[in-house]
Amino acid sequence: MATSAAAKAASIHNLTCGTSRQSRYETNARCPLLPQSPLHKADVVHSGLKCGASRKAVSRVGKTVVFRQPTCVKAAVSTSEAPTSTSTEPGKVLLEVEGLEAEVADGGRQILKGLNITIREGEVHAIMGKNGSGKSTLSKVLVGHPDYDVTGGSAKFKGKDLFELEPEERSHAGLFLSFQSPVEVPGVSNTDFLRMAHNARRQAQGLKELDPLEFYAFLTPKLDQLKMDASFLSRNVNEGFSGGEKKRNEILQLAVLEADLAILDEIDSGLDIDALRDVAEAVNGLRKSNNAVLLITHYQRLLDYITPDFVHIMQSGRIVKTGGKELAKELEQGGYGALGPM
Ligand SMILES: Nc1ncnc2c1ncn2[C@@H]1O[C@H](COP(=O)(O)OP(=O)(O)OP(=O)(O)O)[C@@H](O)[C@H]1O
Ligand SMILES: [Mg+2]
Repeated sequence: MATSAAAKAASIHNLTCGTSRQSRYETNARCPLLPQSPLHKADVVHSGLKCGASRKAVSRVGKTVVFRQPTCVKAAVSTSEAPTSTSTEPGKVLLEVEGLEAEVADGGRQILKGLNITIREGEVHAIMGKNGSGKSTLSKVLVGHPDYDVTGGSAKFKGKDLFELEPEERSHAGLFLSFQSPVEVPGVSNTDFLRMAHNARRQAQGLKELDPLEFYAFLTPKLDQLKMDASFLSRNVNEGFSGGEKKRNEILQLAVLEADLAILDEIDSGLDIDALRDVAEAVNGLRKSNNAVLLITHYQRLLDYITPDFVHIMQSGRIVKTGGKELAKELEQGGYGALGPM
């Protein structure tokens, strides 16, 4: 496995991603990590794999398909008992976003129009909102997706200016995004992808990389936790997966790469009833007093399993209302109209 095409491609990628945007991106070059896929830097840096081009260059990259951000390496806790934020002491601030404005890259339409949110350790936040209100854009802007330019406001993650960090640095810092529409990556096996991402994070932390056997031993319990068949590991990333399988695979990445802040964009879409419960239990099993989850969802049913401390309603690129878990129930019963003027 160590000499697989993907592993080789990864080392090539590490050596070549420092080449200029001119040569790599404006010519619409394919990413050397994934030669069979029309992926760019941003596609692979979300795996935490190092890539040398500047953030500015990244933000100019054109259309793209993307991976979420792997994070760190601790074993997942296999329990459905999630910690609850019953402490009266608020946890440390993980993410603080103030007045965030963002537009589609290169002078496109403004999507985020002054968004504020603060997420502390131990908390679960849910963002709900009508289609097109900007929820996915928010999640992608936070991880440094090149389709968007930040035009105003600030975001601090663990006290650091998030927008000063490269996408892979955000990943190494512990930010994870599970995309609403996970992409397929032909030619890269799930195991190789997960191990490379996992090792990239370990490398950033100054830890010894895991060899394929060590990684397999690390990975196997996580498959059990998610009730995923081991055959998924040898398949290419998301290739031919059903919608629900892709979502499980997203959570497998989260389980392997444990995040301090996991942003889960519609992780419930496409899941059958049993899969929804499995995935929710897996997410709950990963919760700790020092990490947090930001769920983006349209439906209360996910929140029956993963209880939010805060529910935010997003509209036209801003959070216009915040409440407790009852807000989602109100929404479920009466729709957005029932919430009154926002
Ligand atoms: N790269 C882009 N280019 C052009 N328009 C975009 C781009 N990304 C987002 N938009 C537009 O911005 C608006 C917000 O999109 P976004 O995907 O963030 O919405 P959402 O709240 O996640 O919606 P949904 O609930 O349907 O997933 C939409 O009108 C969308 O068409
Ligand atoms: Mg969306």
